[in-house]
Amino acid sequence: MSLVLAAHMNALGTETAFEVLARAKALEAKGKSIINLGIGQPDFRTPDHIVEAGIKALRDGHHGYTAANGILPLREAVAKDLHRRLKVEVSPERVLVVPGGKVTMFFAIMMFGEPGAEIIYPNPGFPIYESVVKFSGATAVPMPLKEASGFAFDADEVLGLITPRTRLLIVNSPANPTGGTVPRSEFDKLVKGLERHPQVAVMSDEIYGQMLYDGREHVSLLTYPSLRDRLILLDGWSKTYAMTGWRLGYSVWPESLYAHAERLAINCHSCVNASAQFAGLAALEGPQDAVHKMVAAFAERRKVIVRALNQLPGVSCVEPGGAFYAFPNVSKTGMTSRQLQDALLNDAGVAVLSGTAFGAYGEGYLRFSYANSIPNIEDAMRRIGRLLVDRPKNAQQPA
Ligand SMILES: Cc1ncc(COP(=O)(O)O)c(C=O)c1O
Repeated sequence: MSLVLAAHMNALGTETAFEVLARAKALEAKGKSIINLGIGQPDFRTPDHIVEAGIKALRDGHHGYTAANGILPLREAVAKDLHRRLKVEVSPERVLVVPGGKVTMFFAIMMFGEPGAEIIYPNPGFPIYESVVKFSGATAVPMPLKEASGFAFDADEVLGLITPRTRLLIVNSPANPTGGTVPRSEFDKLVKGLERHPQVAVMSDEIYGQMLYDGREHVSLLTYPSLRDRLILLDGWSKTYAMTGWRLGYSVWPESLYAHAERLAINCHSCVNASAQFAGLAALEGPQDAVHKMVAAFAERRKVIVRALNQLPGVSCVEPGGAFYAFPNVSKTGMTSRQLQDALLNDAGVAVLSGTAFGAYGEGYLRFSYANSIPNIEDAMRRIGRLLVDRPKNAQQPA
């Protein structure tokens, strides 16, 4: 007798970044030199004072469950931080501490998704959106993001995708995988238009909200009062404080949804690791200079990588406004994104991700994470340059 899985397991996608990371590690284990521009995490350590706070929490005996929604001082610190950064009043009672940013998207999508419902999501976008929407049984409606607008959405186009079956709209700025940022004027237009669609909830993924360049300001949907009773804010510590492995994130929920989110948390993970919560508290309450230093380093690398990408044959790259990704157009290289991803890993020893790992609209693009040192980025660009120059030559040679 064979095991019978639920049908929805076939609908669940994945995050190719982990697959490419595993392939890169396997090649490295065989002695091949690999430069990893594939993984989306800061290459910095968590600042020491944060690590110490986590250790102290363990030494102080914080070994048990905490409140399911997170320790109160942490939820208060989140509310204070949102006020400091965005000038918005948020009650700590609306803040839910969760094990990473992904948990908020899983909860929000499962809360609204079911067969017959439609959920609009960015494409190319973080792959888990589309994956979980399909898992929920809902119809995944892509919001195409285009290079011509710097990968920002067009508000009229998004509003045009809404039908009476639309339950949730997912937005992400600054964005993974494109580094695109949505200008305030587009957000204004979207929010105004949403007044005509009061049945649509919005999940705003602002996990890269503190990683912006050239003086750009973060536009948070939390600052729009007309959305407050249907906005789910996704944020967390992973990127801002280089804490991806701690598994710590938070969401802000409207009053009517909070109890549902908390019930999902109780069913799913009970509470977040207690010591990680104390570390997160130190991150918010302590000095922010490590964050500024890290963003300054990313800003410098961004210039280096964008300039180098634009010098590669067949490649062009728009300036990303935020996050730590570049999303060059590689359609003139004569290879599909996936072919180029594989050639770069296997022949040039550079791990990057095919744009299609982020949805069908990512064809013709690659995602480069520049969370790596400038010497490594420069070395990677030289390797890619050699591959792109040599390949056409080799192709012309008689077999
Ligand atoms: C846009 C976006 N949202 C959410 C996440 C998930 O973050 P976490 O590692 O905190 O779950 C990521 C991680 O790469 C991301 O790029």
